Amino acid sequence: MNLFHALRNAVDYPLRQFFRWQRPVKTHPWQDKTPALQCQPAEWARLCADYHLEGWLAKGTLETFSINLYYLQLIEQALLQAGAPLPDSLNAVDVGCSDWFYAPALWAALRWFGHAAGRQLDLSGYEVDAFRVYGDLHARRDHALAAIADLPGMAYIPQGFTVRPAAFDLAFQFFPFIFVRDHLEWGLPQSLFDPAALCAQVWQSLRPGGLLVIVNQGEAEHAAQRAMLNSLGAQPLAAFPFASPFYTYKIPHFVLVARRENAG
Ligand SMILES: C[S@@+](CC[C@H](N)C(=O)[O-])C[C@H]1O[C@@H](n2cnc3c(N)ncnc32)[C@H](O)[C@@H]1O
Repeated sequence: MNLFHALRNAVDYPLRQFFRWQRPVKTHPWQDKTPALQCQPAEWARLCADYHLEGWLAKGTLETFSINLYYLQLIEQALLQAGAPLPDSLNAVDVGCSDWFYAPALWAALRWFGHAAGRQLDLSGYEVDAFRVYGDLHARRDHALAAIADLPGMAYIPQGFTVRPAAFDLAFQFFPFIFVRDHLEWGLPQSLFDPAALCAQVWQSLRPGGLLVIVNQGEAEHAAQRAMLNSLGAQPLAAFPFASPFYTYKIPHFVLVARRENAG
């Protein structure tokens, strides 16, 4: 199966990069959010007050809303575990952001975490397969641009990430491919598979004192990711399983938080 995917991806990935399909997304269908809120009304009220989420109720599907609450709680937990304030003006990156359906959570978390007035954000999302076309005939990039349309400071970059030495205060990798089978099943060419090198590039792109937050699926990925960090000399400040009442994934998720103390 890996061989079939490798051959197919070697042909259709370059074609996507060549044609760069675009078809703007106008609106996301609205759905009632009550079912998600019924499970945790008090936690919703807290998140709403701390992260100014009122507008979320009026937009998008129930599923996207619920998953955004999941990501928001996860990011908050990671930042609490890091135990140090974020700068007033934050330069952050999300590597491998796909169609960025969770951009609202990322933006709200970074803008409002520990900052009552709302910090300045410069937040770039890199995606190496931005022109993959979905069943609705919109590319990932189209969905991402719709998701960030009213989020100032966010930029979607339809390219593979390459090292930007000491550029960022904070970097995220949500569910990076750790095993080649997943990488191939998602349509990427074998030649682009090097998770350790990607992790090293992200690590080197942090300023001294900068934070890396990585989320993996399942214990095997988590262990392999930890080994990658160890080989970079990055000792996690925190490593924890994460679950949320707002959304349940089949495979358990694990979070790693590491601080880059100095350059080198
Ligand atoms: C499993 S998906 C995770 C998507 C998203 N972060 C999320 O939370 O759902 C991993 C993503 O990383 C992207 N990716 C893989 N290598 C990359 C690279 N070198 N630079 C940027 N994106 C990359 C893949 O195309 C894919 O969209």
